[in-house]
Amino acid sequence: MFSKIIGTGSYFPPQIRSNKDLEKMVETTDDWITERTGIKERRIMDENDTVSSMSTKAAKKALEMAGIDASEIDLVIVGTTSHARAFPSAGCEVQRDLGIPSGVPAFDVAAACSGFCYALSIGDTFIKAGTAKKALIIGADCLSHLMNPTDRKTIVLFGDGAGAVIIEATETPGILSTHIHADGNASELLKAEMPTRGNEESVHDAWGHMEGNQVFKVAVTKLSEVVETTLKLNNAEKSDIDWLIPHQANMRIISAVAKKLDMSMDQVVINLDKYGNTSAATVPTALDEAIRDGRIQRGQTLLLNAFGAGFTWASALIKY
Ligand code: ACO
Repeated sequence: MFSKIIGTGSYFPPQIRSNKDLEKMVETTDDWITERTGIKERRIMDENDTVSSMSTKAAKKALEMAGIDASEIDLVIVGTTSHARAFPSAGCEVQRDLGIPSGVPAFDVAAACSGFCYALSIGDTFIKAGTAKKALIIGADCLSHLMNPTDRKTIVLFGDGAGAVIIEATETPGILSTHIHADGNASELLKAEMPTRGNEESVHDAWGHMEGNQVFKVAVTKLSEVVETTLKLNNAEKSDIDWLIPHQANMRIISAVAKKLDMSMDQVVINLDKYGNTSAATVPTALDEAIRDGRIQRGQTLLLNAFGAGFTWASALIKY
């Protein structure tokens, strides 16, 4: 038994924050941000949305592409670390808002920017085990809201959004393999605290913190390792990959991994310039964009990767 992607969808909130807008907020320049990250603008969630409403909107598009009704979904997993509530989960809210039947399991997975790839791996495992037939897998975050608006080191990097994928049980591959990893020893290098209710000071200490330079080095190493292992375990060659759909944190990290895979940048799906780092949403939204504009075709081989706080890192090799 395998699982196969039958639909994808994305949602980005309408409010645009450009590099020029950021020049008015912190001491930075469009040139610095473009050169160091590749980001030109990002979308910022307003009071009309939440992580679960963005997820629901992305999921509706994925259902439409798959041509199935929400009542057919028998598993919901949302990769997120910025859902507004400790409980219930964004997964349960998505289930409610889409009218997915009562009794279907729905839950969130916290793996920061690797959240979607973790959720996809779990969904694929449920399907391979025969416990689900059609799974809704989402990556959604609003990390722009967790960053200090006066800290130029982090506020320029993050945007908000959601991406959704529906996978279905099938006899032929499908998702060839998924790989998920973590190392909690470096947790202080990239973190955001949960403010303690009623404690005003803790709200100010809670902003996201990142030692960018150190995270950068580990991200390049771990992403290179995981893509090489993925190919090896599948007896695949670098030349077998048609498209790399990487986590969109930094253009320089993406280029370094593409170079290791001997891939031309024409084979790499990038949406970082328009949306910034949307955390768990980067991979499913980039995938959706390239499927909808016809770059990704049925039968092609896709390599997905992600790296995030934890540290966590992950990959998936997929026959689309
Ligand atoms: N504008 C202008 N100058 C800036 C800005 C800015 N927005 N931000 C930092 N600088 C300055 C710094 O203060 C520093 O100045 P100094 O030398 O006077 O101290 C200088 O630029 C260089 O800073 P670095 O942090 O060394 O810059 P670097 O080239 O490493 O780029 C960046 C920073 C873009 C954050 C990069 O390190 C990066 O992309 N890191 C990895 C991010 C990542 O992969 N995160 C994982 C996923 S996120 C998640 O899971 C939540």
